[in-house]
Amino acid sequence: MSFTIAIDGPAAAGKGTISKAVAAHFAMAHLDTGLLYRAVGAQVLAGADPLVAAKSLCPDDLKVSGLRRPEVALAASEVAVLVDVRKELLAFQRSFSRREGGAVLDGRDIGTVICPKAEFKLFVTATVDVRADRRYRELRSTGMDITLEQVLLDVLARDARDADRATAPMIPAKDAVVIDTSELSVDEAIADAISLVQNGMKS
Ligand code: C5P
Repeated sequence: MSFTIAIDGPAAAGKGTISKAVAAHFAMAHLDTGLLYRAVGAQVLAGADPLVAAKSLCPDDLKVSGLRRPEVALAASEVAVLVDVRKELLAFQRSFSRREGGAVLDGRDIGTVICPKAEFKLFVTATVDVRADRRYRELRSTGMDITLEQVLLDVLARDARDADRATAPMIPAKDAVVIDTSELSVDEAIADAISLVQNGMKS
């Protein structure tokens, strides 16, 4: 049996953490679709053509180090504007979503474009200040020399590019349940998401 859970939202809203926890709770496969764009972005920073990089993407490309770096995130949001790059990554995401046993995919356009018929859709958000602060702490904990202002500007730039692009912009699907994690601890956000999915499964 396949069952798709689509989890979208802006950077650092908590969707990655929530998606992993939801997938583990329901014993489903999990795909962080942002990694696909980050892997293409990283190759572009190294001089590759975006479409060639997207066409030749392989599982090992998702494991290279440095994909979480802010410059790779920005490069990812630049390649994510390209329609042909998005088309190239579509089939893999769709086939993953129909895996036997169920799948959780997180990204920006999962509930709207990749899996419009997903059995359950969640849109995870938080205020931009909270998200920038979280990402700042995360990057500082890895030893990165970066200021909160830089992180805030990066998050704002990425939000604008992701929300304003013509193809597959970041917007909640009409049938998505929206969860705001600004005031929630990690454990509370995970518990809320799991109970929302559970209720969604019953209805
Ligand atoms: O989720 P993450 O921050 O890793 O995503 C990096 C970038 O990849 C996003 O800013 C966005 O531009 C792009 N992306 C996308 N569609 C997805 C997932 C990520 O456009 N489904």
